[in-house]
Amino acid sequence: MKGQPCLSAGYPEPYAATADTYDRLVGWAIDQWGERPRPHMAAFLQHLWSDRAQPIREVLEICCGTGLMLEQLARLGYSVTGLDRSEAMLGQARKRLGARIPLVHSELPEIPLDREFDAVVCAASALNYLPDHESLVRTFHAVARTVRTGGSFVFDILSAHRLRGDFGTQVWAGDLDDLAFIWKFEHHPEGRYSDLTYTQFLKAGGPDADTFTATRELHRLYALDHDTLRQAATEAGFTDIAVFDNYSAHPVGDSTNYETWTLTRA
Ligand SMILES: C[S@@+](CC[C@H](N)C(=O)[O-])C[C@H]1O[C@@H](n2cnc3c(N)ncnc32)[C@H](O)[C@@H]1O
Repeated sequence: MKGQPCLSAGYPEPYAATADTYDRLVGWAIDQWGERPRPHMAAFLQHLWSDRAQPIREVLEICCGTGLMLEQLARLGYSVTGLDRSEAMLGQARKRLGARIPLVHSELPEIPLDREFDAVVCAASALNYLPDHESLVRTFHAVARTVRTGGSFVFDILSAHRLRGDFGTQVWAGDLDDLAFIWKFEHHPEGRYSDLTYTQFLKAGGPDADTFTATRELHRLYALDHDTLRQAATEAGFTDIAVFDNYSAHPVGDSTNYETWTLTRA
């Protein structure tokens, strides 16, 4: 399985054209949308893992993108490995992290690693890309095979509330001088997803050039409801399932935009 077949017509694979601007877009999303900075996410994980009977040392990030989170976890002393389906994103991660951090090119639900980790994490709403129930269930089973007994799985998602609300209806624009962009969101209730059309204008030849190159990508983000997630996680062998508001100690509520899920491998 490679890419989302329904999205192939007319659009490149998500992140193929935007991997090199991704980190700047994350900065913008932190300012505009309340996405948590990666040091905050990493500190949440460190706190969560601090009182475990068996210490957490080896961590796999699935959907690691350009390695923003891996970098923070490595700084905190964890031994990290990354996995992503986008070669362009992994290329950026390799530049950031150097040659010594293992990076695996694979598309969930496949996790082709023949070893166990103390923890698996998935940051920045990547599981919202899983296109159907079967991929979600298979992903949970693959993670359960990859994390040791008593180990931790933490992921965050965009809430269904957000995909129906501002991430289902609005248009945003950003102007960062040499990089301008438009995010257009459209919610499709019957399919339980939002289509995010991302159009980017980047100064070709660097900040001093006078022409812009335009690219457009379609990112389809699926709503994940609590009952479905809990059932899939439990069936895969996870326990102690808890949900928090955006990497905080607060429980989720009706207005939660980002949900942080913490689970233990039974
Ligand atoms: C929003 S980015 C998050 C990147 C990173 N976790 C971070 O904190 O910045 C989503 C990432 O998920 C990856 N991704 C989406 N669906 C995937 C799948 N089925 N298998 C592997 N990677 C996937 C994309 O290629 C992209 O790099």
